[in-house]
Amino acid sequence: MRKQIAAANWKMNLSLQQANELLDKIVSKNIVLSKNHEAVFGVPFPYLLLAKDKVKNNEGFFVAAQNCYTKESGAFTGEVSAAMLSSLQIKYVIIGHSERREYFSEDNFTLAKKVDVCLKNNLKPIFCCGESLDIRENKTQNKYVETQLKESLFHLDSLLIRNFVIAYEPIWAIGTGKTATAEQAQEMHEHIRNVLSDKYGNEIAESVSILYGGSVKAGNAKEIFGKKDVDGGLVGGASLNASEFVEIIKSLKS
Ligand code: PGA
Repeated sequence: MRKQIAAANWKMNLSLQQANELLDKIVSKNIVLSKNHEAVFGVPFPYLLLAKDKVKNNEGFFVAAQNCYTKESGAFTGEVSAAMLSSLQIKYVIIGHSERREYFSEDNFTLAKKVDVCLKNNLKPIFCCGESLDIRENKTQNKYVETQLKESLFHLDSLLIRNFVIAYEPIWAIGTGKTATAEQAQEMHEHIRNVLSDKYGNEIAESVSILYGGSVKAGNAKEIFGKKDVDGGLVGGASLNASEFVEIIKSLKS
């Protein structure tokens, strides 16, 4: 059975004190997750160990980094390697978020290298894909997302693909308050699963969790997560509010 996942993406937000408070509030709700549910906290690098410590007694709660560098180690001032993240014993790394693609010029082939270093270091990538508004208006979003997957992931064999979580995040819905409809999300998630199935077979395609991201909030999570191929969400803005995010976690389908 596919994991249903509510993943927070804090982006570059919160002070240490605010991070502490937010995690304390969420943990204090004593959420008991069922076996196929996960809550993941994608926090800035300085807060990884804090987050890991805060959630350590919560079954099904995990921590994610928001990025890593393509190289293992060396003279790359300011960068953080997958090996370092692995040594913190965190589970996930968000790879290829559209903000990384846009502001840090990360293309599909760079992301292929990041995916490789993550897997080599036993970290599970939450691989982001998704189209801009003009691509959607031209109705070429399916081809566009397919190319993102092919160029960044399809060099991997099927055993490794099992380690992935994919997040479909249409850029026009990120931080805009404009959510894709549940139907639009389902349509693309089904397409992604078909693309995976064509390459790796149905059994693998059915095992990969595909999250939706883009203005998910407590008020719309249940409807979006209720769709057949939507296995939860990657949540930005609403994950910075404890009660919103707790409601989102509770909206995962069983
Ligand atoms: P948002 O961000 O929920 O604020 O739209 C989602 C994301 O960028 O992962």
